[in-house]
Amino acid sequence: MADITEAPEWSALAEHQAALATRHLRDLFADDPGRVGRMTVTAGDLHLDYSKHRVTGETLGLLVALAERAGLRERIAAMFSGEHINVSEDRAVLHTALRLPPGEALTVDGQDVAGDVHAVLDKMAEFSGRVRSGEWTGFTGKPIRTVVNIGIGGSDLGPAMAYEALRDFADAGIACRFVSNIDPADIVGTLADLDPERTLFVISSKTFGTLETLTNAKVARQWLVERLGDDKAVSRHFVAVSTNAERVADFGIDTGNMFGFWDWVGGRYSFDGAIGLSLMIAIGGEAFREMLAGFREIDEHFRTAPFEANMPVLMGLLGVWYTDFFGAQTRAVLPYSQRLSRFPAYLQQLTMESNGKSVRADGAPVVAQTGEIFWGEPGTNGQHAFYQLLHQGTRLVPADFIGFAEPFADREGMHDLLTANLLAQTSALAFGKTAEEIAAEGAPAAVVPHKVMPGNRPTSTILVPRLTPKTLGELVALYEHIVFVEGTIWGIDSFDQWGVELGKVMAMDLAPALTSAEPPSEAPDPSTAALVRTYREWRRR
Ligand code: F6P
Repeated sequence: MADITEAPEWSALAEHQAALATRHLRDLFADDPGRVGRMTVTAGDLHLDYSKHRVTGETLGLLVALAERAGLRERIAAMFSGEHINVSEDRAVLHTALRLPPGEALTVDGQDVAGDVHAVLDKMAEFSGRVRSGEWTGFTGKPIRTVVNIGIGGSDLGPAMAYEALRDFADAGIACRFVSNIDPADIVGTLADLDPERTLFVISSKTFGTLETLTNAKVARQWLVERLGDDKAVSRHFVAVSTNAERVADFGIDTGNMFGFWDWVGGRYSFDGAIGLSLMIAIGGEAFREMLAGFREIDEHFRTAPFEANMPVLMGLLGVWYTDFFGAQTRAVLPYSQRLSRFPAYLQQLTMESNGKSVRADGAPVVAQTGEIFWGEPGTNGQHAFYQLLHQGTRLVPADFIGFAEPFADREGMHDLLTANLLAQTSALAFGKTAEEIAAEGAPAAVVPHKVMPGNRPTSTILVPRLTPKTLGELVALYEHIVFVEGTIWGIDSFDQWGVELGKVMAMDLAPALTSAEPPSEAPDPSTAALVRTYREWRRR
């Protein structure tokens, strides 16, 4: 496999960047009155304006040529058809099958993928319906009022983000809570005010071998049994979501109350399947299926739209453009919706666990920079925190602004003020304010340089009619496919996560040294040995 940086399309982009780097967005807009119309694209309900990017029509042509050179078209087809594109784990990558429409067949490696997906969705819908209606009761006969999802990483961030996003659609009087951290403060704080008779635990773990999840689940089980006074209560208050039935049974959960998925669903791509069970209980099976329809709409767009009008392709290519040709390190994601407060955290796992790689799929080292660092906060909070650096700092931070036309509820015109802020920020970032303009406003000469707003800071603006299950599905699918586009250009395996393993193993090796009375002998390095000693001196038992 040739390195993409050796392709003529890569050199062409490097040369083009050198010519474009000195041009300001003010000039690009002045030179091209049709720019906004041409640099607007829609996919499903999503409307993307990418005209405030440091690109011209020529840039886009060169980026699309790079995508063709990287074989993006073939790679998309390979993913959707279930080829083993996760090479280091020799697995298909089929999260798109989680939202296959009923009636559409897909068989991969001899497995009736479509049939299995719908069987699990039906089982989830049936169970959710029973919990929501009160037909499923706790051990003492009381209906469930709180669902606690215990999981971590992809088994937490997806449902936690989506529940927060869609909490206005939680219509059965059932609230969800999410416990992930091995810090005891998480589970203890979550359980503190819960009524055990009305609490259902969903233990979510693809492997059912994750330390954090199993430890928290044991604490929850102990809490429940102590309060309800009977081991038999567990079967009414614990269900599992996993690919590993044997471990679920070992833990003591009835596998009849287990909701399955498969090794071809990556954890960070899984909340539109069984990992979304807590969400489905909150919002109902119908709303969950609307969310799947949103995912599906973007899948279809990604699979079929020409690259020039393909939203995930364009946004992925823009990520490559800034990462590899402008040296940008990070991408801010700035949702102007309080309900999307967990969206940046969710995207951090989706994007960084996927594309934080320094070898290519064939094992050779990468030459290009990979893996944008995603971060963000909902607007307008971020404006009063870190936007100063976005506007006047020395670093280039491309940003995605996400806004909604309709609020779920409005007060005093607040929603329009929220949107006005979004629009003002993207305009100020792009066009800035010159020294002449500031001087003309009467600023003292010494202050003028401090007030100059350089502009030329690139942003995407994604406008969405309203935050609903369907549009949330569309937004998530958009970013899933952006990750895919970038990973394909970089030639990496976006679907493994070996880098997380070493730290887990070392933590297990270190744990005994923290608790033993013996002097620590086996610390991995002198600094860690010294920290272990200090910790042990300070630890009061
Ligand atoms: O952090 C590594 C990881 O393997 C993630 O990829 C995964 O989402 C998370 O741990 C949780 O894993 P599991 O669902 O198997 O408990």
